[in-house]
Amino acid sequence: MSSQLEKVKELIELRQEARLGGGQKAIDKQHERGKYTARERIAQLLDEGSFEELDMFVRHRCTNFGQEKKSYLGDGVVTGYGTIDGRLVYVFAQDFTVFGGSLSETMALKICKIMDMAMKMGAPVIGLNDSGGARIQEGINALAGYAEIFQRNIMASGVIPQISAILGPCAGGAVYSPALTDFTIMAKGISYMFLTGPKVVKTVTGEDVTQDALGGAEVHSAKSGVCHFAAEDGEDALRIIRKLFSYIPQNNMEEPPLVECNDPIDRLEDSLNEIIPDSATRPYDMYEVIGAIVDNGEFLEVQRDYARNLIVGFARFNGQAVGIVANQPKYLAGVLDSNASRKGARFVRFCDAFNIPLVTLVDVPGFLPGTGQEYNGVILHGAKLLYAFGEATVPKVTVTLRKSYGGSHIVMSCKQLRGDMNYAWPTAEIAVMGGAGAVEVLYAREAKTAENPAEFLAEKEAEYNKLFCNPYNAAKYGYIDDVIEPRNTRFRIIRALQQLATKKVTNPAKKHGNIPL
Ligand code: HXC
Repeated sequence: MSSQLEKVKELIELRQEARLGGGQKAIDKQHERGKYTARERIAQLLDEGSFEELDMFVRHRCTNFGQEKKSYLGDGVVTGYGTIDGRLVYVFAQDFTVFGGSLSETMALKICKIMDMAMKMGAPVIGLNDSGGARIQEGINALAGYAEIFQRNIMASGVIPQISAILGPCAGGAVYSPALTDFTIMAKGISYMFLTGPKVVKTVTGEDVTQDALGGAEVHSAKSGVCHFAAEDGEDALRIIRKLFSYIPQNNMEEPPLVECNDPIDRLEDSLNEIIPDSATRPYDMYEVIGAIVDNGEFLEVQRDYARNLIVGFARFNGQAVGIVANQPKYLAGVLDSNASRKGARFVRFCDAFNIPLVTLVDVPGFLPGTGQEYNGVILHGAKLLYAFGEATVPKVTVTLRKSYGGSHIVMSCKQLRGDMNYAWPTAEIAVMGGAGAVEVLYAREAKTAENPAEFLAEKEAEYNKLFCNPYNAAKYGYIDDVIEPRNTRFRIIRALQQLATKKVTNPAKKHGNIPL
């Protein structure tokens, strides 16, 4: 064999060794845990055969605790680039078979390298996390590595989309990288995220808690809001990422991909003309409205199980991706509260950062009152949503279906927050407050001396409702651009979005605003 052939053979053998990560035994253990390896995951995520791996021959440089005798090619992370539906993405996948996927100095360098390339090329970064945290043997160098990644997460925020899948442990300060990215997807049963694990919790607070109850996918989806999508398993998590990408652009200078639309743009939905119940206190399901108006009824909901009184997610109108923000009358009457406001604000800001128009569907009775909310800072949280809508310069189309009262009317993308097209259904009630509450305030004294107080108040309420609880009062002042037939909503939104395609608005130059965090 020529020496060149021998060198090629050596290369092939090294590659084979690198592809085995921590070795076959560790791979088998990973499979026994119900998890895929880093390379298997990348293959599932990207277009077939598109992955180009980088830094396969990197080894750690640590000599503490005899580490020099134990090193693996690639050092616990697989990095590189490939495509999703033909579009370039950068990816890193932590390899749990090597030191439990723990983060070393060199592993951080590998991750930072692809993050820097993603920024240069204007392409998204996807991180597949499965790691025991900082590599203990490397001490401060591992911490420095995390900080380097965090700094890049911050610089990339709002420039390129950053997505994190949690497919195993993600604990300690390591959780802050996913938290800094745009979307976090957790796989049920195999993933967990927490700052301190159950043992530390027990020592510090005495509380007994399992990993799953402390930081599993369900907990972070329904209770904390840290997780945006709870996937059924690891493969499902990767499917969700591919779907999510179909709605978002490569970077903040591009538009989201336009897809061919075979759903007629002038499709009339007669059911919408009868969806609002006669009684103002009876709910209906906002999902039915969304399903009826968007292309082919397809809706990718974000944070489905968190603050269910506000629905946010991606859909398309005539093939154009939009972000939908909608009150859900079926849950807590669609009231706005702290969690719903935070959820909405973050989603609106993502859409605005990445040129995704906003369609807002309003049916909101107001903000949730009480000490629970006030002590929790609903003033600040509500202001976040207000700020996010007011700051957004993407096309904004608002449709008021029924209630739109008081502060919540303003917050939900009203005309004065630079709503571009503000429509209302004939059932809309746009007023300072509902009739019953209003007459209690206005006529409390007269009611006391009236012959029949209940009858008197009912009369006054009817008067108030006639005057204020309709869309025409707002339309009279131009705050509503048109009152539309509900069944024609899809067509009117599409027309509005077409008209707004060339919209250009810029905010005043500043270092950055001071959103009430
Ligand atoms: C070095 C690690 C490691 C780590 C795991 N391993 N975590 N090596 N540094 N942080 C190694 C194990 O020694 C083991 O090696 C292999 O990975 C697999 O781990 P197991 O424990 O066998 O797996 P499992 O039973 O599934 O448990 C997984 C685990 C556990 C829950 C993640 O390993 C664990 O608790 N690890 C420590 C977690 C931790 O406290 N990390 C530091 C957090 S502080 P062998 O050779 O036996 O196969 C932190 C700060 C970050 O991360 C700050 C950022 C700002």
